[in-house]
Amino acid sequence: MIDLQHNEQGLADYPLLAAQLQALLAGERDFIANAAQFSAFLFQQVHNLNWAGFYLVRGEELLLGPFQGKVACVRIPFGRGVCGAAAASGLTQRVDDVHAFAGHIACDSASRSELVVPLFKEGRLLGVLDLDSPLPARFSAADQAALEGLAAVFVELTDC
Ligand code: SME
Repeated sequence: MIDLQHNEQGLADYPLLAAQLQALLAGERDFIANAAQFSAFLFQQVHNLNWAGFYLVRGEELLLGPFQGKVACVRIPFGRGVCGAAAASGLTQRVDDVHAFAGHIACDSASRSELVVPLFKEGRLLGVLDLDSPLPARFSAADQAALEGLAAVFVELTDC
């Protein structure tokens, strides 16, 4: 794996990350292997994260999946916390200040901002991709669009 890919503004070079992710996942479609690789890839390549990983749909709950970061809560009901809001609404949640988000679940007290992208395959909710940062307002609208794009690459290249 090459070094952190960032442009002059210190923002991640997302087109390059998308190309790298495609190369990383090429030749393997297993869900656990690709989800584990994707979470490690994001944790390595995107600056200022303290958690990156998956919560997966199991009935009316989300169950912890492959991730990088500190140990986390295992089950999250739909509608609870930022992840549960993303799962219940089907919409990306971009939270500049997690302390101002009613019901936020604090797995790591260092977290200040959060981005949660719901994952769909052919209209079916698979789970969510969750990124936490120790910096307030870490995630811009451009970061959101780019992470949604990377998540789409993952879903396309993985058996879900
Ligand atoms: N903060 C999340 C819980 C998951 S951890 O951040 C890993 C939430 O409120 O849903």
